[in-house]
Amino acid sequence: MNQVSAFYTGPGQLVEAISSALDAAGVDRTALRPADLAAVDEFHIRGRRATLEIIEALAVTADSRVLDLGSGLGGPARTLAEVAGCTVTGVDLTPEFCQAAAALSEWTGLSGRTRFQVGDATATGLPDESVDAVMTVHVAMNIPDKPALYAEAFRVLRPGGRFVAYDVLQGEGGEVHYPVPWAADSSTSFPATLEDVRRLLPSAGLDDMSEIDSSDESLSWFQHMRAKIQREGPPPVTFAAFLGDGFAQMAANQVANLAERRIRTVMFVCTKT
Ligand SMILES: C[S@@+](CC[C@H](N)C(=O)[O-])C[C@H]1O[C@@H](n2cnc3c(N)ncnc32)[C@H](O)[C@@H]1O
Repeated sequence: MNQVSAFYTGPGQLVEAISSALDAAGVDRTALRPADLAAVDEFHIRGRRATLEIIEALAVTADSRVLDLGSGLGGPARTLAEVAGCTVTGVDLTPEFCQAAAALSEWTGLSGRTRFQVGDATATGLPDESVDAVMTVHVAMNIPDKPALYAEAFRVLRPGGRFVAYDVLQGEGGEVHYPVPWAADSSTSFPATLEDVRRLLPSAGLDDMSEIDSSDESLSWFQHMRAKIQREGPPPVTFAAFLGDGFAQMAANQVANLAERRIRTVMFVCTKT
């Protein structure tokens, strides 16, 4: 197995682990909405709130076909399908995540509008100009060949379509403290700098770029989450379902990484002109 998907693959039986945690908490899986699963399937900083910002930036309609590169457990794809009413294809390197994504879509009644396939974001095999919009959320930092990632987004996107990338970038504060929720160490972590992305997106033909830096909100989000857990206890199921006991240390490192400006969270919005 590829080193990146090996990192994300937990002890196995992820679908069963999530369903038994929900059952144990008395959650009715036949009446689930995407928001109910956000603590486990919106696997990026600022969770569902960030996804709603991405959806606004994508500017899609109910007729749109959207591609999610590195779709994980499918939280962003389901939120998008629910809010915009469109159809979303997710491509992800980690088979266990694609399996879980399909199950979670089933539970939330969104199987008809979301589908997930195992694949590489730099070579999806989808036809040229076959989608109206492309998003990618906290994935590029696992991919060393970023020109290949952006070239693939450009290739599958129809002219006039939007590309939205919400990424973790290398900040000016120094080397990232590991482990983090996307890597145990620097061997599978390749965060780009702001300058890299500003150069790479236009050279891939992704134009009219705008960027929103949410690093300060990201730090407050972690602090808010920690306070909420202290007050109310943890949600029934979290990223620890696949990241294991190491998740607490990863979250603590993320707080330090943000506070020391070792990482930044930035959303880029572009159009294929
Ligand atoms: C931090 S998770 C984010 C998942 C999802 N985008 C979300 O926000 O909930 C990163 C995901 O990127 C996937 N990934 C990493 N490298 C990839 C690649 N080259 N092609 C496809 N998926 C990849 C991983 O398997 C993992 O699911």
